[in-house]
Amino acid sequence: MMRLWTILLLLFATAASAQPIRWQEEYPGVWKGTFGKPDNYTLLSAAGATPQAATLERLQSVDFPLPKMEVHAELIDGKTYLRFPLQKNEQIYGLGLNFQTVHQRGKILNLHVDHYGGKDNGRTHAPVPFYVSSRGYGVLVNSAQYLTYYVGTGVRKDAKVPAEVKDRNTDKSWNSRPYSDAVEVYVPTEGAEVYVFAGINPLDAIKRYNLFCGGGALPPKWGLGFTQRVQKLYTADEVIKEVAEFEEHGFPLDFIGLEPGWQSKAYPCSFEWDKGRFPNPEALVKKLANKGVRLNLWTNPYISPESPISKAIEPFTGSHTVWNGTVPDLNHADAKCILAGQLSRSQIDIGISGYKIDEVDGYDYYLWPDMAKFPSGISGIQMRQTYGVLAQKLTDSLYRQQNKRTFGLVRASNAGANNMPYVIYNDYYSHQDFITALVNSGFCGVLWTPEVRGSKTGEEWLRRFQTVVFSPMAMINAWSSGTKPWSFPEVAEKVKYYAQLRMELMPYLYSEFAKYHFEGTPPFRAMVLEEGFQGQTKASLNNQDLETNPYLEAVNKEVKDQYMCGEYLLVAPLFTGESTRKVLLPKGNWYDFYSGRYVGNGEEIVAKPEDDRIPVYVKDGGIIPMTTARLHAPAAGEKVNLIIRHYGEKEGMYNLYDDDGLSFDYEKGAYSWRRIVLKRNASGKLEGDISAPDKNKPNTIGTVKFEFMGQ
Ligand code: GAL
Repeated sequence: MMRLWTILLLLFATAASAQPIRWQEEYPGVWKGTFGKPDNYTLLSAAGATPQAATLERLQSVDFPLPKMEVHAELIDGKTYLRFPLQKNEQIYGLGLNFQTVHQRGKILNLHVDHYGGKDNGRTHAPVPFYVSSRGYGVLVNSAQYLTYYVGTGVRKDAKVPAEVKDRNTDKSWNSRPYSDAVEVYVPTEGAEVYVFAGINPLDAIKRYNLFCGGGALPPKWGLGFTQRVQKLYTADEVIKEVAEFEEHGFPLDFIGLEPGWQSKAYPCSFEWDKGRFPNPEALVKKLANKGVRLNLWTNPYISPESPISKAIEPFTGSHTVWNGTVPDLNHADAKCILAGQLSRSQIDIGISGYKIDEVDGYDYYLWPDMAKFPSGISGIQMRQTYGVLAQKLTDSLYRQQNKRTFGLVRASNAGANNMPYVIYNDYYSHQDFITALVNSGFCGVLWTPEVRGSKTGEEWLRRFQTVVFSPMAMINAWSSGTKPWSFPEVAEKVKYYAQLRMELMPYLYSEFAKYHFEGTPPFRAMVLEEGFQGQTKASLNNQDLETNPYLEAVNKEVKDQYMCGEYLLVAPLFTGESTRKVLLPKGNWYDFYSGRYVGNGEEIVAKPEDDRIPVYVKDGGIIPMTTARLHAPAAGEKVNLIIRHYGEKEGMYNLYDDDGLSFDYEKGAYSWRRIVLKRNASGKLEGDISAPDKNKPNTIGTVKFEFMGQ
């Protein structure tokens, strides 16, 4: 009898664990795996992510990147456990917007939308459940639940590559974290939906992930200009004065951000103008528009009892309040319609260019608890994981209806929001960690700004300013400090140089964002995604044996303070107190951005920049299309003269993107790529050429001049 029970039990256990994942290739190199009964409401459904099917279809077909039989799913007590194999020396990147680490192998992460609390533990503004492996594939668990990732930490008895037993008494290489050969994921539902993205390298897998989620965001050109957020209780007159001051000082400015004081009530919000501070918002918007400046509005989504929409929206709000404001169910059609009506009537229809959507991340103390209920039926947890995404989607859709692009800020995001024109920011303000977040943003399909607020010294001000210029949104957030770009006179000229450089770089930056949209290449990304960088570990330089200590790689090679800005620029920020730093260059010749001077090849160099500059380097054959310094982004259809820089010795090629810079017409084909080619002529001299504009396509390029740097 006993034996029979044992056999039955064993059979049952095998049946439970043997459930296969149903794999289906959706596009070349993109597989969907379904196990059990996954939730209907997922991250991708919340975001409404629509794959760029035509582009994905054209991609090279590749093999499934993992041994399929070793991708394992199991249902235990109604919860799903997933397991993905890891090889020795394989590194894992991504799993959300981390601020202190780039290497995730060896970590345990509880992915949970929250403010960043100073530790990379999974609680962050964009806890995207997507990771990419150094072996060139990516994995997304498409669930809006809190997920726990054991990234190469669990050691199983049946591990394919077992950890070695060591004696701590005698063996110095004993490690409290023995080798683990798998990523294990806990999904608290009766099934899971998983996507696997293959690639010829990690960047290729990321591109597939981004394209699958709709491609990256393409901001309007003005979104790449400079933006200043003014002090929270500014009046319309003070805003006008500030815009005039920017002009007088010769500082670029494309949009001004109004902080909470534009609203009659905030925290919770009324969503209407404060009549005292802003008696005639429409006139203000027009006046600024005449100066080439737009307005962006801060808000949080929590509705004040004094808001004109408070009563109408009440039935479509959650069970709990935030600062005594109701929480609109952004998954419910009626709530969306009422809120959208108010935003349109009072703000978008008069020409407000976008929003800064605050407080959609956390703290737990003031947000709704997990047991909160929402009329649309999704849980408090699912709402928490997707609220920022839903808010982005709602506001973006209002601009789409008007065929106008927006570019704004948000404090929470998640998988699937890759094509939302929003940049994440926070209050954490560690300059070093802000740069690590920029490095990590490229692994998970989000944009991040290392915003500048206040500074203790002119030096800090300059250092922070330099990095925000090489980021998705060049912004001073003076909501509290009231700082202006020229606030530190001792560095004001140097700050101005960088503000102008941002404007000069616009043709390059805009094209890099177009590549994010059309090809999925993140405009700001980690060094490990750069050709010739991977594998060049300090450990391998020192001839250390990674086989015996697989964590050596993680310990030694993590590069989190330098990054790529587009195809050709390597940015290596200096922080307060530093006038020199080490920079790791990928293989190939590299040149100084400012002088064109050769600096090194596949080696660690010591940067000692002149004039307090931020070290920036360009790859051999690098082409940087620039324009002349200007105060505002070009208006619709305005032609811009190009100064195309070439660096190094190699011939080169660059795809320059062109469209109207404002509307969504590019989605219907109203754009062109202009091919810039630098070639040696018969006498060996480099010569530049740019292809003619496509017929009947936008053409905003004026005169073209080539500059050969360092020659
Ligand atoms: C914070 C936000 C700041 C600023 C401030 C205004 O939550 O992160 O950037 O907008 O609110 O009250």
